[in-house]
Amino acid sequence: MKKKVFYTVLLAASFIGCSQPNNGSSDIESKVDSLLSQMTIEEKLGQMNQLSPWDFDDLAKKVRKGEVGSILNIVNPDEVNKIQKIAVEESRLGIPLIVARDVIHGYKTIFPIPLGQAATFNPQIVEEGARIAAIEASSDGIRWTFSPMIDVARDPRWGRIAESCGEDTYLNAVMGAAMIKGYQGDSLNDPTAMAACAKHFVAYGAAEGGRDYNSTFIPERVLRNVYLPPFKAAVDAGCATFMTSFNDNDGVPSTANKFVLKDVLRDEWKYDGMVVTDWASALEMVNHGFCTDGKDAAEKSVNAGVDMEMVSETFIKNLKQSVAEGKVSMETIDNAVRNILRLKFRLGLFENPYIVTPQSVKYAEEHLLAAKTAAEQSVILLKNDAQTLPLTDKVKTVAIVGPMADAPYEQMGTWVFDGEREHTQTPLKAIKDMYGDKVNLIFELGLAYSRDKNVAGIAKAVNAARRADVVVCFVGEESILSGEAHSLANLDLQGAQSQLIKSLASTGKPLVTVIMAGRQLTISDEVEASDAVLYSFHPGTMGGPAIADILFGKVNPSGKTPVTFPRMSGQTPVYYAHNNTGRPANPTEMLIDEIPVEAGQTSVGCRSFYLDAGNSPLFPFGYGLSYTRFEYSDLRLAADKLTEVDKVNVSVNLKNAGNYDGTEVVQLYVQDKVGSVTRPVKELKAFKRVELKAGESETVTFSLPVSDLAFWGYDMTFGVEPGDFRLWVGTSSAEGLSADFSVIK
Ligand code: GLC
Repeated sequence: MKKKVFYTVLLAASFIGCSQPNNGSSDIESKVDSLLSQMTIEEKLGQMNQLSPWDFDDLAKKVRKGEVGSILNIVNPDEVNKIQKIAVEESRLGIPLIVARDVIHGYKTIFPIPLGQAATFNPQIVEEGARIAAIEASSDGIRWTFSPMIDVARDPRWGRIAESCGEDTYLNAVMGAAMIKGYQGDSLNDPTAMAACAKHFVAYGAAEGGRDYNSTFIPERVLRNVYLPPFKAAVDAGCATFMTSFNDNDGVPSTANKFVLKDVLRDEWKYDGMVVTDWASALEMVNHGFCTDGKDAAEKSVNAGVDMEMVSETFIKNLKQSVAEGKVSMETIDNAVRNILRLKFRLGLFENPYIVTPQSVKYAEEHLLAAKTAAEQSVILLKNDAQTLPLTDKVKTVAIVGPMADAPYEQMGTWVFDGEREHTQTPLKAIKDMYGDKVNLIFELGLAYSRDKNVAGIAKAVNAARRADVVVCFVGEESILSGEAHSLANLDLQGAQSQLIKSLASTGKPLVTVIMAGRQLTISDEVEASDAVLYSFHPGTMGGPAIADILFGKVNPSGKTPVTFPRMSGQTPVYYAHNNTGRPANPTEMLIDEIPVEAGQTSVGCRSFYLDAGNSPLFPFGYGLSYTRFEYSDLRLAADKLTEVDKVNVSVNLKNAGNYDGTEVVQLYVQDKVGSVTRPVKELKAFKRVELKAGESETVTFSLPVSDLAFWGYDMTFGVEPGDFRLWVGTSSAEGLSADFSVIK
């Protein structure tokens, strides 16, 4: 009885602010140690055990016995409170559960998929979206999300590129930190805070062949220069948890990779958060051929530095025996449990174990508005010949066509467990509601869904096009085609979508193609056939109103490509921050159709490019047009001889030379021309969103610490190497004003 009174009083007190949750680390550490000292080994292993339950009663039994530390995938608030009450009031020590869920890009109000959020180049809007997701999820008791996914992803065959922040190390680092701040808020013990989870640690995005779960072969130097920095940024942002990745890198599965989990994460980065495996990734090391059985997997995981096991229960089933055999020390177990209990104290779960956020936060008007803004800023204008867009009042009739025009479920994108299609506002619905009184609308699907090969409906769509002034065709990917385990070998539009676009183009009517997908697709032909192209990485609940306002000019698109668009699937992986090689391609290489018959063996090529695809992408990283025109001029460097304690101070004049107010993402890239190891031809080091009214100009400045040019060199030390550098300031990774500078000792 005493315990019940204790919690009730504390809860009431904390409500009226009398008892401040313990957020002093020394206070928490003493509480952790005190609790740990009372725990049996069974209870310790119980804390290391995370379940995704199938049967509530079975779960209740295990929780009552102290055999569960965390649950995922229970989202009914009454059930969450009920199971939490069992943990708090009926288990011996009353340790609350951490309730987790994959809240990846929104909970009920769905934001653009992370790849689309990255396209905004706007960390503020990304942080706001994560905050909203946390508020909504906390109303169902969720206090831990498995997000951000900050795997640098350079291969669109890999379906999980959808969940990433794209191909660039810096962009992933910035966006990952923004999501962490949003999820965790100002204080983890705020009842609307969700512990974030930096995943998947590490290099999962480099799966060979872009085939999910496949092996990776990333050497330490590339790990440290490309794949680890976003995770270090996550540590610096205070990310509460990490998740190990499924892949084996250079033969070592991440779930037992002591180098990354201990040497880097704990010893170098001094991380004191909690590490969880991915779904059954501990037991799956038996499939990898790295472990003999579950006991071996449990021992290798905890000895490498894992704290909690997701769902495969090898820890709770085996580690008591392992400790008895001396294969795992009690100190290792205690350290893992400390990390788990510390997180629970930091979350305030001991003071406030139950849900306090009201259900009314779900789909709140301000949440929907934020989701619309994020969707607007995520849309990329890839082509706009003859100012086809925006649609002006000269356009009297618009034909809305295509399988993605009114696909509420698909538009939300991958990793949506809790968003509801009924709340999704599709482009068709939005255009009708928002612009139906200004234009005549004709709607013909043409195809029923993105993979539809039945061309019978195309004739009707073509007929609709003939009756209209402009055709807007919505194509792309159903949500199932991207995300986990959804790799593609062919990146062309699925089904008869290409045929649909070409048929519409043959009418001669202005054709606007809008592509909603979970990855960059090979769309050369479709871009060629269209007068204007908008790319929207699955935009979420408010994608319709966002695209409608862009089509009709109320919003000027500002999105930039967070990934490089290949011309052909065979070009992948393709990314801008590549090495130059000893034989970089010339822009004017002879391509396959120009090669004469019986050409001499050495008459073609001898450079690094594809005979059929060349070497340039369809669209580069950082690319995106606007309804207006931005002009860059007058690049100035404050100094061109710098030491490593200096800053590169550079400015450029940016003018909005067009007729529309707009926002430009000004990007700063740097090349280290000669290094102790080969260096990328350029790397993104900073970016700024600059809003300018038509005709306005602004001097845009960057002050880049020279120390940001540090990298892991030949001798595996980290630092800036003196030498010559080049920088660009511009509108994409492919164009900008440049200047040279050098770093001197
Ligand atoms: C999945 C994913 C991981 C997710 C976890 C829980 O397999 O790899 O990203 O958070 O399991 O659903």
